Amino acid sequence: MRKKIIAGNWKMNMTPSKAAAFLNENKAACESDTADVVFCVPAVDIIPAVEAVKGTGIEIGAENLYFQDKGAYTGEIAADMLVDAGVKYVIIGHSERREYFAETDETVNKKVLKAFEYGLTPIICCGETLTQREQGITIDWVRMQIKIAFLNVTAEQAKKAVIAYEPIWAIGTGVVATTEQAEEVCTAIRKCIGEIYDAETADAIRIQYGGSVSAASAPELFAQPDIDGGLVGGASLKPDFAKIVHYDEQ
Ligand code: PGA
Repeated sequence: MRKKIIAGNWKMNMTPSKAAAFLNENKAACESDTADVVFCVPAVDIIPAVEAVKGTGIEIGAENLYFQDKGAYTGEIAADMLVDAGVKYVIIGHSERREYFAETDETVNKKVLKAFEYGLTPIICCGETLTQREQGITIDWVRMQIKIAFLNVTAEQAKKAVIAYEPIWAIGTGVVATTEQAEEVCTAIRKCIGEIYDAETADAIRIQYGGSVSAASAPELFAQPDIDGGLVGGASLKPDFAKIVHYDEQ
């Protein structure tokens, strides 16, 4: 039985002091006995966020990392910096990073390998545009993203990975994918992992849905057999996130 994982993605929101205040106010409500709960926060918020959730079961994640160990890469953040700061998860290849910061499937793969090298759990994002969905190539597209993201990743590593299926047209738009659409692609992703590795790896890997998840849509989405939780943007900046964490108690 896979444990659900509900992760917030704060994107470029919350100053360090606001991050600490928000987590201190909401951490008790966001703890869960049944799901892993993660807040992925801006780099400067990581240290106060780790401090704020100390002693709870909540983990802090980063929103990005660089694939080199160290050196002359002004503005970038290395895996060992994240580890030293207390980070456990890192979002890799979010569609906003692909669109605005020229990330490719190849850089995503390098970052995934770097995350594993340092013991960080990658939350690997994939998903189609509206045009791709309308053209009927969603599953082909997502399979390609997954196959490149997992190049040279071992089965043991893949079992620990988290994949976030996020249709781009559903991100920040308030247009959530239907339960059937989300489950169809998450099932296809699991099948693809089974083809790359084996049935055991496909069964172990956790696949989230992301894109306008709310307290209202979470219960049905997260109850699907191939959806193991969510990557939540806008709603993770509000106390409502606790309701999403406790989607099965509503
Ligand atoms: P959203 O963002 O929940 O605000 O749509 C999800 C994401 O981009 O991870």
